Amino acid sequence: MKALVLAGGAGTRLRPLTHTSAKQLVPVANKPILFYALEQLRDAGITDVGIIVGDTRAEIEAAVGDGAGLGIRPTYLHQPAPLGLAHAVLTAADFLGDDDFVMFLGDNLVEGGVADMVERFRRERPAAQLLLKKVSDPRRFGVVELSPSGEVVRLVEKPADPPSDLALVGVYLFSSRIVDAARRIAPSARGELEITDAIQRLVDDGAVVRASLLEGWWLDTGKKDELLDANRIALASLERRVDGAVDDASELVGAVVVEAGARIVRSTVRGPAVIGADCLVVDSFVGPFTSIGARTRLEATEIDFSVVLEDCVVRGVSRMEGSLLGRNVELTRTHRRPAAHRFLLGDHSQVEIEEGR
Ligand code: G1P
Repeated sequence: MKALVLAGGAGTRLRPLTHTSAKQLVPVANKPILFYALEQLRDAGITDVGIIVGDTRAEIEAAVGDGAGLGIRPTYLHQPAPLGLAHAVLTAADFLGDDDFVMFLGDNLVEGGVADMVERFRRERPAAQLLLKKVSDPRRFGVVELSPSGEVVRLVEKPADPPSDLALVGVYLFSSRIVDAARRIAPSARGELEITDAIQRLVDDGAVVRASLLEGWWLDTGKKDELLDANRIALASLERRVDGAVDDASELVGAVVVEAGARIVRSTVRGPAVIGADCLVVDSFVGPFTSIGARTRLEATEIDFSVVLEDCVVRGVSRMEGSLLGRNVELTRTHRRPAAHRFLLGDHSQVEIEEGR
């Protein structure tokens, strides 16, 4: 069995972070979302992994490399334009050959891994096995209609009038029949070859298409709040580990990870929280559900329930919560006159200023 991991696409929903970087590399608990998928595949015994890459291919290849650190063997497959998930399958046709495969969307994060699904697929050998999750707004997803006995009857991509509240999670198991089905569909209204249409082909052909409900949580890297929530959930299972330096005037409370080279000085870190490699945290408070990326400096700052990426400087900011900072962001307090806020914000940035300041 092989895997096909999709790591192309544009990532418009996570702008501005994804103006400069791939959405699949946005970190959750300081680990790129894509790595969770690759590790879950490895844990299910699947190491032969095709990775679909697009415009951000250099970045994805730099992060995953030869896969040795993740225990997989990647084959990079270039999709010249994001023409849909079924188009990605066609792009990978030679790589896939006649093998069964797991298709995993590289911006999806699924609790509990894929080993059980893979095991069931191997046992039952359907043409396709889908994973569904009840969602409050099915119009944002592929939606599946089941018969009263649980058979997959119909699939629709982002319907205005959803036939159910069961969304397609971005993890699919396929036999090679899906490749042939993908060849027999036409582009959708948004100009893409939709995987939902290809699966509908299988259903119409009378092939066995199974679905099961995902019990755990699922993140489809949507917007800031969803990412913060995923970070919160991922940090909840964190175990304390201190490889960096913590001075006597500092206090670590609960599940805190301090990576190698990080220094905590006259500060309190209340877990679950992770402080990345070579960070400097001085005279600050880092509260629960916060991930600080490598080499970031926090000085005289209070922050909680936030994600800060690598190489940022945050100085004299109190208090900050529910925030997401991209790489190399500087946020500092100034005593310059006139007293005012001064901004340099990228496209699609969002700032909320506290009333009265
Ligand atoms: C894609 C699929 C959709 C699925 C979703 C899950 O949507 O087309 O059926 O529900 O992934 O993340 P997209 O991310 O392309 O909008």
